[in-house]
Amino acid sequence: MQGFDPATSFGASVAQRYDDQPRGDEADAVAFLADVARGRPALEFAIGTGRIALPLHAAGTAVDGIELSPDMLARLRQKPGGADLAVICGDMASATTGRTYGLVYLVFNTIFNLLSADDQIRCFANAARHLDADGCFVVETALPHAWIAPGTADYVHAEQIGLDAITLDVARYDPVTQLLTENHVRISAAGIRLTPIVCRLITPGEMDLMARIAGLHLLARYADWRRGAFDIRSTAHVSVYGF
Ligand SMILES: C[S@@+](CC[C@H](N)C(=O)[O-])C[C@H]1O[C@@H](n2cnc3c(N)ncnc32)[C@H](O)[C@@H]1O
Repeated sequence: MQGFDPATSFGASVAQRYDDQPRGDEADAVAFLADVARGRPALEFAIGTGRIALPLHAAGTAVDGIELSPDMLARLRQKPGGADLAVICGDMASATTGRTYGLVYLVFNTIFNLLSADDQIRCFANAARHLDADGCFVVETALPHAWIAPGTADYVHAEQIGLDAITLDVARYDPVTQLLTENHVRISAAGIRLTPIVCRLITPGEMDLMARIAGLHLLARYADWRRGAFDIRSTAHVSVYGF
C-alpha cells in the first residue's frame, strides 16, 4: 500500500477505539502467561493499550513494555494502573529496556506487523536479548492459511453488518512478499472511515527457524491459551521458546 507507515497505523483514532470490543481471550492469556512467568518479571513487546499487560500486572506479574505508537501508549497511561508500568516508546525489533526477564511475550498476531523477514528475525533476536537464561519467549498468532485460502489474491469480507453501519475488510495478499494489505472500511451515516494495515504473514515453521537464528528453540506449541492440542484443525498457535 503506497504511503503506508506502520508507525501510524495505530494512531489516535484507533487507540481511542481499541478497547471498545475486547477480543475475549484476555483471562485465558493472562492465566497462561502468569503460569510461564512463575512470579518473575515480564516484558510485553507491542504492549498497546495494556489489554493483556494490565490484568497480568494486577494478577501479580510485574510487566514492562515496548510500544511503537505514542497514541496507544497515551491510552495505556490513561487507564487505571497504566502509568505504573515502565514502557519504552520504540521498535520491538531493536529497542531495549536494558534488563532481562523470565518472560517476554508478543501476542495478537503482532509479529506480523513487522513487514520484512529481516525485521521479524531481529525481533526474535531482541526477545532473546531480553530473556533470563531460563526465560521464555511466548508468541501468539493466527495460522496464515486461516486468514488466506491458498490461491486467494484479492477479497472483500463483510466484517460487520449492522442496521446503521457496515464494515468491510478489503484485502490483497501477495505470496511473494507474504504481505497482506488490508483496509477496513466502515460505512455509516457519519461517513466513511478507513483503517489501513499491512501484515507479513509467517508460519509456525518460519518462526521456529527465526527462533533458532536467535539461539532459541521451541519448547511447546498449543492451539490456544488453554493449551489445546495443536493439530490439523488448528487456526492459531501459542508457541513457547527458550534457550
Ligand atoms: C494488535 S495491537 C496488539 C496490542 C496488545 N499487545 C494487545 O494484545 O492488545 C498491535 C500493537 O503493536 C504495535 N506495534 C506495531 N509495530 C510495532 C513495532 N515494530 N514495535 C513495537 N510495537 C509495534 C502497535 O502500535 C499496536 O499497539
